[in-house]
Amino acid sequence: MRIAITGGAGFIGSNFVSFICKKYRQAQILNIDKMTYAANPLTLQILNKFPNHNFIKMDICDGKSIEGLLDGCEIIVHFAAETHVDRSLENAENFLMTDVLGTFRILEAIRKTKSVRRYIHISTDEVYGSIQSGSFLEESNLNPTNPYSASKAAADLLVLSYFRSYNIPAVIIRATNNFGPFQHPEKFIPLSITNALENKKIPLYGDGLQVREWIFVHDTCRVIEILFDKGEPGQVYNVSSHQERTNIDVLKRILKLLGKKEELITHVPDRPSHDRRYSIVSEKIEKLGFKTDYSFEKGLDETILWYKKNQQWWKHIKNSPEFQRYYKAKYPYL
Ligand SMILES: NC(=O)c1ccc[n+]([C@@H]2O[C@H](COP(=O)([O-])OP(=O)(O)OC[C@H]3O[C@@H](n4cnc5c(N)ncnc54)[C@H](O)[C@@H]3O)[C@@H](O)[C@H]2O)c1
Repeated sequence: MRIAITGGAGFIGSNFVSFICKKYRQAQILNIDKMTYAANPLTLQILNKFPNHNFIKMDICDGKSIEGLLDGCEIIVHFAAETHVDRSLENAENFLMTDVLGTFRILEAIRKTKSVRRYIHISTDEVYGSIQSGSFLEESNLNPTNPYSASKAAADLLVLSYFRSYNIPAVIIRATNNFGPFQHPEKFIPLSITNALENKKIPLYGDGLQVREWIFVHDTCRVIEILFDKGEPGQVYNVSSHQERTNIDVLKRILKLLGKKEELITHVPDRPSHDRRYSIVSEKIEKLGFKTDYSFEKGLDETILWYKKNQQWWKHIKNSPEFQRYYKAKYPYL
């Protein structure tokens, strides 16, 4: 069997590649990634130790090459995307290119080959926008509030249109915030852990009372595998952990676990149109047998341990000129 994974050098993708390489030893795993700033070459060094891992450096927007590569694959899991909301607010073009056009290229490739029996499209709860109380269902209206979530919503609608028009075997997952090993230190939890380890100030948007549901990345990998066989084409599955935390509570817990003082917390101006709370119902996936293995606390313990042990991995990113430029421009006062 051949399984293609796009964006497998990024955060969730790389966790999923190692999960699948270990579980499907007989399968050939194709990892297709452009290696943008979000991918760390040190991640590939680790993945390359799996004998069934095959890395292909490629832009998913390159339609002809993608068609050639996906022909013969049975399962495709599509993670590749531009993913950082803050960067989308600075310049949305790459988001439209990769998240929308790139998804279109993949859908076209699937339409043309007969080999694909399951296409799993990785989306986000951010497509629903913010909700003050209660939770969104899969049928709820899409109401994205920033260019990242708008590009993801556009891709979701395109996927559903390809199911209806061409009957491609697509399922969509809309997951809540993931955390765990191999996440880029521009994101909230890894930035907080690594800044704390370096005794640096930690930026916190606004009052820090934004609410997110956090799911440990291992649980997301398990959901995706369940959908290989049990997912019904044309369906959307919300994936939640039901573990809501405010950003400030998450940050205080990280500092406590690392034995650092709360004085490191530095309130910075809030992000424009910052969604206050995300929340989704995920009964549909739970009916297929999914239950989280990890509590937020257990996942955070493992994540912190990983960042402590793998300083070379994240320092490779944080010391890069790209990251330094990005960080200085974003937080000139830190
Ligand atoms: N991280 C989360 O909390 C979260 C939650 C829900 C959904 N998602 C979705 O999951 C997916 C993965 O998210 P992540 O946080 O792991 O992202 P990430 O930014 O860590 O990784 C993205 C990967 O895609 C690759 N990529 C970008 N553009 C590409 C292109 N044109 N061609 C080929 N590869 C390209 C990058 O090199 C990188 O390796 C995304 O689709 C995201 O929208 C993420």
